[in-house]
Amino acid sequence: MKNLPSIDDLRQAARRRVPKMFFDYADSGSYTEQTLRANRADLEAIRLRQKVLVDVSARDLSTTVLGRKLAAPFILAPIGLLGMQHGDGEILAARAANDAGIPFTLSTMSICSIEHVAEATGKPFWFQLYVIRDRGFSKALMERAIKAGCDTLVLTVDLQVLGQRHRDVRNGMTVPPEFRIANVIDIATKPRWAFGALMGKSKTFGNISGHVPGMEGVNSLAQWTQDQFDPALNWKDVEWIKEFWPGKLVIKGILDEDDARMAVKLGADAIVVSNHGGRQLDGASSPLRVLPGIVDAAGSMTVMMDSGIRRGTDVLKALALGAKFVFVGRPFLFAAAIGGDVGVKHAIKLLKDEVDRDMALLGVNKLSEVTRELLMETNSSR
Ligand code: GLV
Repeated sequence: MKNLPSIDDLRQAARRRVPKMFFDYADSGSYTEQTLRANRADLEAIRLRQKVLVDVSARDLSTTVLGRKLAAPFILAPIGLLGMQHGDGEILAARAANDAGIPFTLSTMSICSIEHVAEATGKPFWFQLYVIRDRGFSKALMERAIKAGCDTLVLTVDLQVLGQRHRDVRNGMTVPPEFRIANVIDIATKPRWAFGALMGKSKTFGNISGHVPGMEGVNSLAQWTQDQFDPALNWKDVEWIKEFWPGKLVIKGILDEDDARMAVKLGADAIVVSNHGGRQLDGASSPLRVLPGIVDAAGSMTVMMDSGIRRGTDVLKALALGAKFVFVGRPFLFAAAIGGDVGVKHAIKLLKDEVDRDMALLGVNKLSEVTRELLMETNSSR
């Protein structure tokens, strides 16, 4: 891991280690990938204001979010099929997050189930929910999460239909999955990945398999899941969840100020300004660009951000524009892919060290000092 000093290095290593169809699934964005690129471009376009000769010997990365103290201003975003990048990927990533004092978010579409992760980690984690057509199943999922000790629900609202990622179609990563000789040959050249995947507790959607009568094979599970995305999902469903869910409610996938106001009105505890890592509406704005307006619209509600975070300076730029903290997805996915818990630990340390060093160079000791004052005027920043 020492030879992998940046998240970009982790990505390259994951590309070599993981079968192409799974790496591409994680790495790609929808259609032209312009929104995927905009996430990075907008982060990189911001210039920071360097401040010197400030005593920065008391730097502290900790922050309090939704009443809980975190060791750093970022958490592990929910990632579908993480356990396909590395056997037991979700369990291993959750362990690494626990050790680092930051939360882990388990996706509805995980490979390891809620119960497996709870049993293997013994610590509370956040649960991400897709509300599907079968509301009874959605409710049962929430009940299972409550039973497993999850105190925070992250409700994803930008996936009523799945964005198309062309790389998935080209690779046969479709529903049902297409059998391709090229994929078989590719997997045969990735023995370390195959061994890990084979040894994992689960090889299919852990939260669904065994909970829907008659759905066992990967193909039928994938088909069922695809059919369950619900285009009718709307704000009334949020009211329903709010009545039912006893813990904190975080709504993920907001890019619009009116939507942020609606989330406040319905009593959400937080929102995540997000374009789903550039995987849904191609042409949507980067979260960064709309963040200041949404922070104003959100009033005292906590605002978080994701999509495109790769460096410590990215974290600080998002915080400076008003996010309380950020979700980080692909970097931890690449890390889990190459080294399970050791990989994720390494990635958390990389990001923490970067934030720490950047705070020093910006002349700040506390995250509460990370404000718009640290950013150059927009006109001169591009
Ligand atoms: C699911 O969340 C996906 O982006 O594929």
